[in-house]
Amino acid sequence: MSMKKLSEIFSEILIKRGIDKVGSLSKRIPNRESKNPIQDIAIAVLENKGVIAEIGNPTALAWDLRGNKTKGAKFAFVPLNSKYLSKFSIVLKSEDIMRELEKHNYPLFIIDLMHWEKHTLKEKRKVALQVAQSYGVIRDYLWGDLLNVTWVNEEFKKLAGGLPIERVSVYEISTADFLKKEGIDEVILLDPRAEEDLSREDFNVKAFIIGGIVDMGGTKKGTTTQIGKILEESGIKVRRRKITLRGDIFGVPDRINHILEIVLKMLVEDKSMEEAILDVQAPIQARWRLRKELPKHAVRFLIDGKKFLVVEKELYKEFSEWLNIRWEDFVQVLRELNFVALERKRLHHLKKISTFRLINGKGHWVLLTKRAALLCYNC
Ligand SMILES: C[S@@+](CC[C@H](N)C(=O)[O-])C[C@H]1O[C@@H](n2cnc3c(N)ncnc32)[C@H](O)[C@@H]1O
Repeated sequence: MSMKKLSEIFSEILIKRGIDKVGSLSKRIPNRESKNPIQDIAIAVLENKGVIAEIGNPTALAWDLRGNKTKGAKFAFVPLNSKYLSKFSIVLKSEDIMRELEKHNYPLFIIDLMHWEKHTLKEKRKVALQVAQSYGVIRDYLWGDLLNVTWVNEEFKKLAGGLPIERVSVYEISTADFLKKEGIDEVILLDPRAEEDLSREDFNVKAFIIGGIVDMGGTKKGTTTQIGKILEESGIKVRRRKITLRGDIFGVPDRINHILEIVLKMLVEDKSMEEAILDVQAPIQARWRLRKELPKHAVRFLIDGKKFLVVEKELYKEFSEWLNIRWEDFVQVLRELNFVALERKRLHHLKKISTFRLINGKGHWVLLTKRAALLCYNC
């Protein structure tokens, strides 16, 4: 069973108190552009920035518990510094949510900065940025306290400008010491070199570890596995797991915040690994994967002595079902690979009028007429 989002737990508490919509007396909370205003309000109450109170006049704008806009709520988020707060009766505050959260066994998420010194300054900046973005990600699904950063030093704190250090759980101690402090003796280490894929059976652990690693020059291969080894030496049981897209890590976004988001989508949105990856995959990563996949489908032609590598145009539709590619990405990859795309029926026709031959051990469809080349309209 998947875990609930913070907004779901918050909504359940509201329902128990007979509240089916909330307004807000704050201009900033929830963010008016937010995709999940209830989550925004829940986070703000949990972080003790305000409370839910019964107010005098119904609000003009309100949100139902699914986050849809509505109006006329008698209960609203009221910031703690509001001068009206004393006039209202408070119905829900931070402790009420905390008490509820304690009943659920939410895992901790740890970003391990053990390899910090192996990074260039540019990479360190990226690590710091991705950690700050991870803080945003965890608050979109759960809440910030669940994110912990270990092996932290002053340089990281300085570079992590976007990270509210005072709110985030940053530790100078090692991950092993942190785990011991928390009484955790078994973890899932997200490791692209693991043997096994991450699966639902792994969701019972108390901590997930992501390497605080950015590898711009390809100089840190296998560094995540080293994190696991150090933990094992300290007596922690490590289950190494990878995230793959149709059996391959190629095309899986590898930024720290993206890995965290994929895990959260599987964990709290009950999405399959593939769905979770597709939600965060950028076209550039999809193109990498396409570059690896398309050659598997290429048919070799030798037309009037000229070599052509041809793929079916229909492959675009097939690949766009599991890769975030647009038609222009497909065309770009075809160009890079120097491939030609032909409609399936034209490709079959071309094969029909060709002869199959082995040339240097590789199968080629050979065609010896100038006219036939014209069939290939985009060659
Ligand atoms: C940029 S990756 C670093 C990978 C590093 N070069 C290595 O070979 O171990 C940053 C972190 O994201 C996580 N990660 C990235 N891709 C992953 C994948 N496909 N499966 C599991 N974890 C992944 C790992 O925790 C990793 O430490």
